[in-house]
Amino acid sequence: MAGKTATRSDKPLLRALAGETLERPPWWLMRQAGRYLPEYRALREKAGDFITLCLTPELAAEATLQPIRRFGMDAAILFSDILLVPRALGRRVSFENDGPRLEPLSSSGDLRPADLDMLAPVGAAVRRVRAGLPEATALIGFAGAPWTVATYMVEGGSSRDFHRVKTWAYREPRGFEELIEGICDATFGFLSLQIEAGVEAVQLFDSWAGVLSAAAFEHWVIEPTSRLVARLKDRFPQVPVIGFPRGAGLMYERYAAATGVDAVGIDTAVPLRFARECLQPRIPLQGNLDPVLLRVGGEAMTSAFAELLEALGAGPYIFNLGHGVLPDTPPEHVAELARLLTGAAR
Ligand code: CP3
Repeated sequence: MAGKTATRSDKPLLRALAGETLERPPWWLMRQAGRYLPEYRALREKAGDFITLCLTPELAAEATLQPIRRFGMDAAILFSDILLVPRALGRRVSFENDGPRLEPLSSSGDLRPADLDMLAPVGAAVRRVRAGLPEATALIGFAGAPWTVATYMVEGGSSRDFHRVKTWAYREPRGFEELIEGICDATFGFLSLQIEAGVEAVQLFDSWAGVLSAAAFEHWVIEPTSRLVARLKDRFPQVPVIGFPRGAGLMYERYAAATGVDAVGIDTAVPLRFARECLQPRIPLQGNLDPVLLRVGGEAMTSAFAELLEALGAGPYIFNLGHGVLPDTPPEHVAELARLLTGAAR
């Protein structure tokens, strides 16, 4: 075998998560595998439906590796979905053209104990990806945070106003707590399976953290996330956890201080000065280029990129978007970003 094997801590992503400031920030993109890539669209067609793609190890591994081959990000994110957890909890989940559909849940009595065996192919996909990744590239696993997963389960899909799920949480907090606890358990199982198969960091996507009042944020974001992180740290103390409470606004500070996560993903709306002064002294940051700027490309993208690096590059930082890559993003813009990043030594 040629060369020496990189130890864990040689991988730029893991160094940044451990609090190091690197010469150039490591990078990856949320939704880096997906419809903006023609090779993904071909794979998706071959799989037929999205859940088959997630649960067929060869196909999920191939989708994970596609963006790495093209652009050489410092981390791969496992190709999977946050809605596999509701499926393991016995809910019907399908993906239509206009987004996910679930049978809406209205009582915690309708939950089944989690069937984690159903998710075993995800572990097999992780092992395949690890075998196919370049030596300095880290592999990130993920799950939805309990609140965000609950929104999909209760609303029956994506939502505009979150009235059903908030009504349940306000009206019947005990029953809702049972739902959150059930999701938490299943999520711990899902992440444990990924870690045991070889993911080196995990991200908790709390995509809808921003729709709650401050008091409800404390109950349904801070508390369950803290419990989940504590369980992960107890069992896998060496595996860093990235929290992404999208839309948390001023609650980002509380989230960073209270949940025990190792790094925080900031969404596009977070002001860079607030990020640098109030968050980064406490915790490594990841984010927050507007995905629309990646779609636009050119000078608009380049100057926003420069501002971002100027603001956050002097501390522990991982370059990423403020949300996922949009499906109509030209892949050449991602290639341009890759060039900017590899030229971006401090
Ligand atoms: O980031 C990656 O490249 C890894 C794969 C990944 C997917 N979903 C694949 C996917 C990740 C990390 C996710 C997370 C996810 N899934 C979130 C959190 C992040 C966010 O966007 O807020 C959420 C809320 C979901 C639930 C979900 N899955 C929705 C709402 C949809 C439909 C919307 C859409 O983009 O089509 C999905 C489907 C989905 N998950 C696709 C992909 C590539 C598109 C499916 C297809 O190929 O048709």
